[in-house]
Amino acid sequence: MLGTALPLTSLRPPLKWAGGKRWQVPHLRYLWAGHEHRRLVEPFCGGLAVTLGLLPQRALLNDSNPHLIGFYRWVKKGFAIDIEMKNDKRHYYRCRDRFNALLAEGKGHSREAASLFYFLNRTGYNGLCRFNRGGRFNVPFGRYRRIHYLDDFSAYEPLLSRWEFSSMDIGQLRLDDEDFVYAYPPYDVEFTQYASAGFSWADQERTATLFSRHRGPVVLVNQGTSRIERLYRSLGYAVGFLEAPRRISCNGDRRPAKEILATRNL
Ligand SMILES: C[S@@+](CC[C@H](N)C(=O)[O-])C[C@H]1O[C@@H](n2cnc3c(N)ncnc32)[C@H](O)[C@@H]1O
Repeated sequence: MLGTALPLTSLRPPLKWAGGKRWQVPHLRYLWAGHEHRRLVEPFCGGLAVTLGLLPQRALLNDSNPHLIGFYRWVKKGFAIDIEMKNDKRHYYRCRDRFNALLAEGKGHSREAASLFYFLNRTGYNGLCRFNRGGRFNVPFGRYRRIHYLDDFSAYEPLLSRWEFSSMDIGQLRLDDEDFVYAYPPYDVEFTQYASAGFSWADQERTATLFSRHRGPVVLVNQGTSRIERLYRSLGYAVGFLEAPRRISCNGDRRPAKEILATRNL
């Protein structure tokens, strides 16, 4: 028997994170219906858009980015930020230096580091999370006219306190047979062996193969490239397509992007 129902919420993801899948939630609700008793596993949880949309009772949310998961763990415990937050270039670079100093001192898990991570995420360029070879966060100041900062995350606490968080490579995840997996790996970029974000074609193959062995329901989402379609079909996934909303690009291209939604055991 599960605990009391979670409150319906329109909470938005607290961080800016590339590839938010909020727009997919209505499609995923159909697939999730009837499986609500299961644990939802997001092996590449990123901004949490999908989990905050589906509101499972139980979830395992994993991402290899330790700062992201560290931030969620603080929110889970009840989190309020008391550092100054303002959309100011000099202040941004001071905070970036302080964040890097904390990382260098091995204090990346501290409350202060999580506060700075939030501030840098909201204020830096496009919400990027990028480090140089020396491990220093190096995202430049963003170009926002106005930023809404949150300093009290208590609204998220009742939800996140029910969910488990981990930060590891997907190969180390321990799944239960009953788990419902929703996996959205970094996009495949066709015609390159090594995609951005250090996620190679071999990683795409590894991901698809790993979850094709899972006994419970699996939903796998990716860019609709032909090699991804071939790979997923060859591993026995049922393949469908979704039209992703696309921002208008500088050449005025408004064509929707095609995304693959592949399923198994559903
Ligand atoms: C495209 S994002 C997922 C977006 C997310 N589903 C959302 O809706 O916001 C991919 C995520 O995978 C994570 N990632 C990349 N390689 C990984 C790996 N080998 N194991 C676990 N997570 C990984 C990245 O840190 C990134 O947050």
